[in-house]
Amino acid sequence: MTKDSATGLQSARVTDTGLDAVTGAFSYSGRAIATALTDAGRHVRTLTGHPNRATSASRIEVRPLDFDDQIGLVASLEGVTTLYNTYWVRFARQRIDHELAVENSRALFQAARRAGVERIVHVSITHPSVDSALPYFRGKALVERALAETGVSYAVLRPAILFGSDGVLLNNIAWLLRHFPVFAIGGRGDYRIRGIHVDDLAQLCLEKGAQRFDSVSDAVGPERPTFVELVNSIKDAVESRSLLVHVPGAVLPILSRAVGAALGDVLLTRDEYRAMADGLADTEGPATGSTALSDWLIDHAPALGRTYANELKRHFDIASP
Ligand SMILES: NC(=O)c1ccc[n+]([C@@H]2O[C@H](COP(=O)([O-])OP(=O)(O)OC[C@H]3O[C@@H](n4cnc5c(N)ncnc54)[C@H](OP(=O)(O)O)[C@@H]3O)[C@@H](O)[C@H]2O)c1
Repeated sequence: MTKDSATGLQSARVTDTGLDAVTGAFSYSGRAIATALTDAGRHVRTLTGHPNRATSASRIEVRPLDFDDQIGLVASLEGVTTLYNTYWVRFARQRIDHELAVENSRALFQAARRAGVERIVHVSITHPSVDSALPYFRGKALVERALAETGVSYAVLRPAILFGSDGVLLNNIAWLLRHFPVFAIGGRGDYRIRGIHVDDLAQLCLEKGAQRFDSVSDAVGPERPTFVELVNSIKDAVESRSLLVHVPGAVLPILSRAVGAALGDVLLTRDEYRAMADGLADTEGPATGSTALSDWLIDHAPALGRTYANELKRHFDIASP
C-alpha cells in the first residue's frame, strides 16, 4: 500500500482483480462495454448519473458519477483493474459545458490513479485538436492530454459516429424520414460519415483493456458513405417517400433548432453540423470495426425510426412530447 500525498488516501497497485469499472453502463456505449465485459466473465462496477436505471436482474455494481466528490470517486475505483471511460457531454446545457467536462474527466483520471487502477481505456472522438474552434473537439484533445499526463497506462479509442442498439443518430434520421415529407441536407452533403457499430467499439475496448502499452487509435467501421448516400440508404431501408432537399449549410442548424424545439430535444447543434461538414466524422485509415453500416441498416430497418430517441430525456430526464 502507498499513501497519496494529495488526499492522504491509501492506494495499492492491483494486478487483475477481475473487476472493471465502466462509466454509464445504463446509457449507450457504456452499456455495450459492460455487456461485453460481463459476457467475458468480468465483474463490472458502473459509475453513473442514473443509478435508478439499474434493474434487479443487473449484474452490475452501481456507484455515483459525482465529480465533486474526489474521495468518493477514489473509493468507487478501488479494486478496479481497468476503467473504461465513456464520459462526455454532447452539448453544453445547464451548468455543464465542455470546459467543465474536461475538468470532470481530469478528476476521474486522478481518482483512478489514486485508487491504483491499472489501465484506462478512454473513448474519445476522431480528429480532436487543441486548436479546434469547436469546444467539443478542443475539449476532447485536452482530455486526451490530461489522460496522458495521469501516469496510468492507457488506450484512447477515437470513433467518429456510433450506430447500433438504441443509438440516436441513425434512428432519428429514420424517424424524420418516416414522418416528414421533406428532409433537409446541409450543403451538398458530400462529407463522409464513418460509423462503427457500438458492439465493435466495445470489443475494441476490451482488446485495449488487455494491453499494457499506451496507444491511440481510430475506432471506425469499414464503410464511409457521404451524408447524402447515408440518408438515401436509410430512406430506402425504411421505404420513406420523403424528398431530400439541399439547403445552405448556414440554414441547416436553424431548421434543426426549430424541429428540435418542437420535439423537446436537441436534434443537431451548429457545431455538430460544422464538424460533419468539415469532414471530422471521417478518417482514411484502416477499419478497426467489422460491421458494415449498410448491412446493419437492412437488418434493422423494420424497427429503425419507429420511435423518436430523445437525447435530452436520456440525460436530463425531461419528458418528451
Ligand atoms: N454517440 C456517438 O455517436 C459518438 C460518436 C463519437 C464519439 N463518441 C464518444 O463516445 C463516448 C460515449 O458516447 P455515448 O454516446 O455512448 O455517451 P452516453 O452513453 O450517452 O454517455 C456516456 C457517459 O457520459 C455521461 N453523460 C452524458 N451526457 C451527460 C451530461 N449532460 N451530464 C452528465 N453526464 C453525462 C453519461 O452519464 P449517465 O451514466 O448518467 O448516463 C455516461 O456516463 C463519448 O466520449 C463521446 O464523445 C460518441
